[in-house]
Amino acid sequence: MSTINLKTQVPGPKSKELMELRRKHVARGPFHATPVFMSRAKGAVIEDVDGNTFLDLAAGLGVANVGHAPETVVKAIQDAAAKVLHAGFNVTPYESYVTLSAVINRTTPGSFAKKTLLVNSGSEAVENAVKIARAFTNRQAVVCFEHGFHGRTYMAMTLTSKVKPYKVGFGPFNPEVYRAPFPYAYRWPNTSDPSKVSQECFKRFEELVNNQVGAANVAAVIIEPVLGEGGFVAAPREFLAKLREFCTANGIVLIADEIQTGFGRTGTLFACEQLGVEPDLITLAKGLGGGMPLAAVCGRAEIMDAPVEGGIGGTYGGNPVAVAASLAVFELFEKGGMLTNAKRVGELLQSRLRGWAEKYPVIGEARGLGPMQALELVKDRATKEPNREATAALARYCYEHGVVLLTAGTYGNVARFLAPLAITSEQLTEALDVVEAGLKTL
Ligand SMILES: Cc1ncc(COP(=O)(O)O)c(C=O)c1O
Repeated sequence: MSTINLKTQVPGPKSKELMELRRKHVARGPFHATPVFMSRAKGAVIEDVDGNTFLDLAAGLGVANVGHAPETVVKAIQDAAAKVLHAGFNVTPYESYVTLSAVINRTTPGSFAKKTLLVNSGSEAVENAVKIARAFTNRQAVVCFEHGFHGRTYMAMTLTSKVKPYKVGFGPFNPEVYRAPFPYAYRWPNTSDPSKVSQECFKRFEELVNNQVGAANVAAVIIEPVLGEGGFVAAPREFLAKLREFCTANGIVLIADEIQTGFGRTGTLFACEQLGVEPDLITLAKGLGGGMPLAAVCGRAEIMDAPVEGGIGGTYGGNPVAVAASLAVFELFEKGGMLTNAKRVGELLQSRLRGWAEKYPVIGEARGLGPMQALELVKDRATKEPNREATAALARYCYEHGVVLLTAGTYGNVARFLAPLAITSEQLTEALDVVEAGLKTL
């Protein structure tokens, strides 16, 4: 039996009406990948205000990894809200903040002593990771990578690579930020061999640091182990190992931004586990709160303790309701078989997407790690000219036929699959059938 059930054309009349009101009352800036207004969501199914049901391959931008509104998470939220809705950890601390910090310290990569800070959003986690690294090293420079996305607040936006739309009209940006090339094998000029790309890319990183910045001035290097907004490109293990070695040798804090790759998105709780690297600090958000706004910076205890008392924190960070949701999310990973789901979803996605890459010339590359999979669309396989128009057309075909699919990539030519890991195989197959029908129309 199919899950997708479209009772109206998409967007339906109620969604259209609401979109008019949205245009009138809400700032233009926030973008909508899918122009339908959601009324409820459960698991991998979204219902809109016109009564249409969609299959979700976006998980609210990689947040609902455990699915929309799992019962245990909802119950934890309800119970916590009835007890303490807000405390303010800076005013009166509460046990669950400490409990969750201990869980994060235990589960993140690295077998050294760790400490955690809870905040509200991915951008805020990135801002704090940089503040902590600067306080620890007493240095200022931060090195980031091309195609990286780290958020929309000033430091996070400065670290973000793509100009349009993220940086248009918002300058000046923060000083002391330097950008190195990312080992994007598919688009590396002379070779796509991951080992050669790693070597060449690392050489350019070293040149940048040594010749333009000075290693002794670098507080932190920040990298997404798998590019998220940049188009789901995994950094080769070899590259990350060299980066780790360089940072250790030069007293630089290595920050892994696992905001999008975390919480089973790549098949392990964190991508760094698979890629064999132990960062000094890790930033978390999205799947951490199971839908509640929650983010964290976790890392080596001595680094995390560098800022003075009162130097970091905030009014809402680690809100007790969001913390309760997060503890329930961890339960689903530790006891609820969520990583088994991730493996199943990853295998199904990989076999379909890689099969399509052989059949449809519009696909330049199918790639990803575990269930974090993507298709890069091109106009010509030889020139690799990005096909932004086809990617937008595919996303549109999908929502008009009941599937929510996101695009990504510096050139806007990547279709990214961020299915809730709780999606059933039948639902995923149904959604992928729609995507394949869309590919056939391109
Ligand atoms: C890797 C990465 N870092 C940081 C962010 C920013 O997170 P937020 O939107 O919660 O500020 C995102 C959001 O997409 C992200 O994917």
